[in-house]
Amino acid sequence: SWTMVNIVDEQVDRIREQIGERGQAICALSGGVDSAVAAALVQRAIGDRLTCVYVDHGLMRKGETEQIERDFVASTGADLRVVDAEKQFLDALAGVSDPEEKRKIIGREFIRVFEAAEAEVLGPAAAEGEKVAFLVQGTLYPDVVESGGGAGTSNIKSHHNVGGLPDDLEFELVEPLRTLFKDEVRLVGEQLGLPAEIVWRHPFPGPGLGIRIVGEVTRERLDILREADAIAREELTRAGLDRDIWQFPVVLLADVRSVGVQGDHRTYGHPVVLRPVTSEDAMTADWARLPYDVLERISTRITNEVGEINRVTVDITSKPPGTIEWE
Ligand code: XMP
Repeated sequence: SWTMVNIVDEQVDRIREQIGERGQAICALSGGVDSAVAAALVQRAIGDRLTCVYVDHGLMRKGETEQIERDFVASTGADLRVVDAEKQFLDALAGVSDPEEKRKIIGREFIRVFEAAEAEVLGPAAAEGEKVAFLVQGTLYPDVVESGGGAGTSNIKSHHNVGGLPDDLEFELVEPLRTLFKDEVRLVGEQLGLPAEIVWRHPFPGPGLGIRIVGEVTRERLDILREADAIAREELTRAGLDRDIWQFPVVLLADVRSVGVQGDHRTYGHPVVLRPVTSEDAMTADWARLPYDVLERISTRITNEVGEINRVTVDITSKPPGTIEWE
């Protein structure tokens, strides 16, 4: 619509004004719609003075890294660096089951990897006399409100401990989505020509599948969960229900086993929990009443196709008292 065209043009102008002629910008792509749309806007404003960094922590769902590498780049022409950090994250997560501990470790490793990439990207430019670097973030209006910052809050943030960069290099935040709600961000994304898989992607937590495995996170468990999750998402899409629900986590209860039977064999596998929810803003949520035939197809396929899973359950808890994620 013309309003969205206006938002795009207006934001592109504002970004150009903020960054000016010489600044260099960097953006961490998470795979989600917010960072992708923010990056696409900045790309449109300043072209390849923006570098996007995608940290592959090995905790993504099936096909997501490829989607960013291929489809995001194809539709925006953005300069993207993919950092394969799977081993570093999994090593750091070894032996850890506590949810908050997992979050802390994933957050810490992310900052380490991202800052190293940042120094690599900005190092030469900074050395050549660029004194301001811009950090693009997909902060939405609800995030601004939640963190207590008003529209007039200063967006200058100094950035410490970035090895390899001059001490006086200052980072300034660019947050082109600060006045928008999620549905508006999606419309802006469509306007920018981003693929539907990115624009209409359900929200996905930064720590990824790391907080959807109850128990220790290992490569093997991640692969099991990725298969089950891919089947659930595929069947949801096939049923045409993607846009009717907010999020559809699949959770692997890796520390739980239950007895089952397949053919004439006794099995002793793991359960997964399907957690489809409806929501406006993730602050509250309701469990989604998915059609029984869709649930049936998901259950049959997961237990048939994912060897280690012999039981599929559905979470029927609203938020509150449950949270959307299990960890
Ligand atoms: P909960 O589980 O608290 O989740 O109801 C609310 C929304 O936030 C997402 N979520 C996260 N997002 N880092 C993120 O970027 C996190 O650590 C995190 N934990 C939860 C969750 O997917 C839901 O959309």
